[in-house]
Amino acid sequence: MVWLIGSKGMLASEIAAQLNQHNIQWIGSDREVDITDKAAVEAFIQQNFSSGSLQWIINCAAYTAVDKAEDDHAMAQKLNADALINICTATKHYGATLIHFSTDYVFDGSSSIPYIETDSTNPQSVYGRTKLQGEQNIIELLPEHYIIRTAWLYGKSGNNFVSTMLRLMNEKDNLKVVNDQRGSPTYAIDLAKAVLQIIQLDNHRYGIYHYSNEGNITWYDFACEIYRQGKRMGLIKKDCSIEPCTSSEFPQKAHRPSFSLLNKQKMKETFPLSIPQWDESLTSYLKGVTQNAQF
Ligand SMILES: NC(=O)c1ccc[n+]([C@@H]2O[C@H](COP(=O)([O-])OP(=O)(O)OC[C@H]3O[C@@H](n4cnc5c(N)ncnc54)[C@H](OP(=O)(O)O)[C@@H]3O)[C@@H](O)[C@H]2O)c1
Repeated sequence: MVWLIGSKGMLASEIAAQLNQHNIQWIGSDREVDITDKAAVEAFIQQNFSSGSLQWIINCAAYTAVDKAEDDHAMAQKLNADALINICTATKHYGATLIHFSTDYVFDGSSSIPYIETDSTNPQSVYGRTKLQGEQNIIELLPEHYIIRTAWLYGKSGNNFVSTMLRLMNEKDNLKVVNDQRGSPTYAIDLAKAVLQIIQLDNHRYGIYHYSNEGNITWYDFACEIYRQGKRMGLIKKDCSIEPCTSSEFPQKAHRPSFSLLNKQKMKETFPLSIPQWDESLTSYLKGVTQNAQF
């Protein structure tokens, strides 16, 4: 049995779909089981899982509002870091394995080659620091863990860069998009499939892993491709010019790494996975979008 935490979120919705497709039994919880509340976590486990029945915990709950976290450090700390202590201590005796998600924002972006899992971390934001603390709490408390650092996530449910761009491109005549932050997007369905692969293989190769789609682009490149494909598929009904700009022209509260490419070699070799190119995954996403439902 799987416990899927944060089950209404963007990534969790896709993991839920994958679990269903593979007939894997799972129980989901979201805000109604507040993982920052130790007693609530313990009560939920006792009510729902008998001894030995909880095999996997997949934690997708997080404080993901990166800029808001700068002014809400206490809550970000509770959810991204302290809650992991609650989950790990409450489930320690169940023999379950935890799959948890972290972020490229644990790095400072000063590298020029894709980050590997053992590279030094140096988060530059409250979000990044609290997510790193969450990683450390897990490593200390529960050896049976997979921590998957991912980046630039987008998916069918929830607001994300692609849905925002589609909306703005239908509203505005011109858009400026930052061209000095380099990374690779991650389509939530691709990551959800990788999670299923980890569960099915169950090879006990615990540790930190990196996952994003293949490719090396800026947000501006991403926006241009969304426009090109969106126009071709009839999802963008008007012309919109897209101009590159620097991060300083688009100030945001939280500092973002200028380079956050993740090296995925370890993931590909350990599970073995073929990871789609970012623009192919964008095509899959856009094919699934219906204008009324998504933006
Ligand atoms: N999104 C990205 O670009 C990105 C990039 C790198 C890594 N990640 C990581 O990937 C994971 C999944 O991200 P996501 O974007 O799919 O997250 P998400 O859509 O924000 O989903 C998180 C879910 O957790 C719920 N939640 C909030 N507080 C909770 C609490 N106290 N107890 C239980 N549930 C609670 C949220 O409810 P509400 O919606 O009501 O708050 C939401 O349903 C996270 O670990 C995130 O840090 C995301």
